[in-house]
Amino acid sequence: MDMLEIITRKKLGMELTGEEIRYFVEGAAKRSIPDYQLAALLMAIRLNGMTDRETVSLTLAMRDSGDVADLSSIPGLKVDKHSTGGVGDTTTLVLAPLAAACGATVAKMSGRGLGHTGGTLDKMESIPGMRIDLSEEDFIRQVKEIGVAVVGQTASLAPADKTLYALRDVTATVDSLPLIVSSIMSKKLASGVDGIVLDVKTGSGAILPTAEQSIELAEAMVRVGTLAGKPTAAIVSGMSQPLGTHVGNALEVKEAIDLLSGRTEGDLLDVSLTLGGYLLLLAGKAETAEEGKEKMRQALISGKGLQKLKEMIRAQGGDPAVCDDVSLLPQAPVIREITCGRSGYVSAMNTSELGWAAQGMGAGRKELDDVIDPSVGFVLKVRIGDRTEKDTPLCTLYARTAEDAERAEERIRAAVEWSSKPCGRAKLYYALVTADGVRRLEDPE
Ligand code: URA
Ligand code: CA
Repeated sequence: MDMLEIITRKKLGMELTGEEIRYFVEGAAKRSIPDYQLAALLMAIRLNGMTDRETVSLTLAMRDSGDVADLSSIPGLKVDKHSTGGVGDTTTLVLAPLAAACGATVAKMSGRGLGHTGGTLDKMESIPGMRIDLSEEDFIRQVKEIGVAVVGQTASLAPADKTLYALRDVTATVDSLPLIVSSIMSKKLASGVDGIVLDVKTGSGAILPTAEQSIELAEAMVRVGTLAGKPTAAIVSGMSQPLGTHVGNALEVKEAIDLLSGRTEGDLLDVSLTLGGYLLLLAGKAETAEEGKEKMRQALISGKGLQKLKEMIRAQGGDPAVCDDVSLLPQAPVIREITCGRSGYVSAMNTSELGWAAQGMGAGRKELDDVIDPSVGFVLKVRIGDRTEKDTPLCTLYARTAEDAERAEERIRAAVEWSSKPCGRAKLYYALVTADGVRRLEDPE
């Protein structure tokens, strides 16, 4: 095999063979192909795309570039949910305990924050004592005992993705459909679960901005999952504003606890219950997704979901008391209330910019080895469609310093748009994608 020839063929828009794909994936995993050649190939793929056949070969080669977890010792159907990445998007911490409380077996491997998006692992680590680096044996034992574990991927899981993802991040090749499909699905297929529910985001905070592109991405991921023998369903949901109101690691844990305690509700809760409905369906714990959603709601009302979150936190070494007293979570030294400063209607948000604002306060990494500050971020007080006066609260900032708060205030103001005329609410549900095809969705009243 000749890497130069593989790059040339993709540059000319030709279809790569399975053998060529396996060659460069193995070279990426073993680091035997230089980064500059991999980067050139990634850009050729970004520009010329891949056929379905190539995308499937790429995903399976990446899955097989490392260990495939064996969860067969855990009885029943194991399920996992994965989001393509968003802002204020902490559905995992809400739905994983609820689904487990409904009898599903949730064996979840999560990621860290990336760019403007937050990561479940970083959020979980804001809980004092919480561990996310369980061994495979401890992971399996915990899932058997309490029905749920959320952990980080081991280094041996899809190592080709580690190399390729790091290169994509710095070569403007993240937004490629076949590269996103293969990156996410290789990891999900290697994690050993039986069924996968995907939350594909669309809008100003999503990896792909338009609904049509996001639906295409969902279709491709469902196709690959189904072909690999894993029932897969995807919801395409809105990310034209942060999903929840809280943005930042400890703040998002607090919001998840508030939701599970029944103190608050909103879009984050609804999307969590909807995704959970599909998890219960794939786990064989509901006949339909609607029935699954209703069971999730009952587990919320009964408090069983919050109870399950406590069990999970305790099992992973964390302090479950945070569920009864959220002030035990890390607290930022500087807290500042910001008002809208204008009257009118909130018409749009640059959601990735809002994510970058939180990252700039210390909630995310600027460089690979940065240490994040779990306490910082903000709580947004407006949603698209809201009417505001000058003194209507816009957000509460949680910052390390007054200067950080000022910078964040400026960025957040610049990321929110107003109109003098009334405007509609942001669309939350776009489509359901299953092996049977695409069904367009309307938001419930
Ligand atoms: N998340 C991933 O793990 N990979 C991608 O390519 C995009 C989001
Ligand atoms: Ca993520």
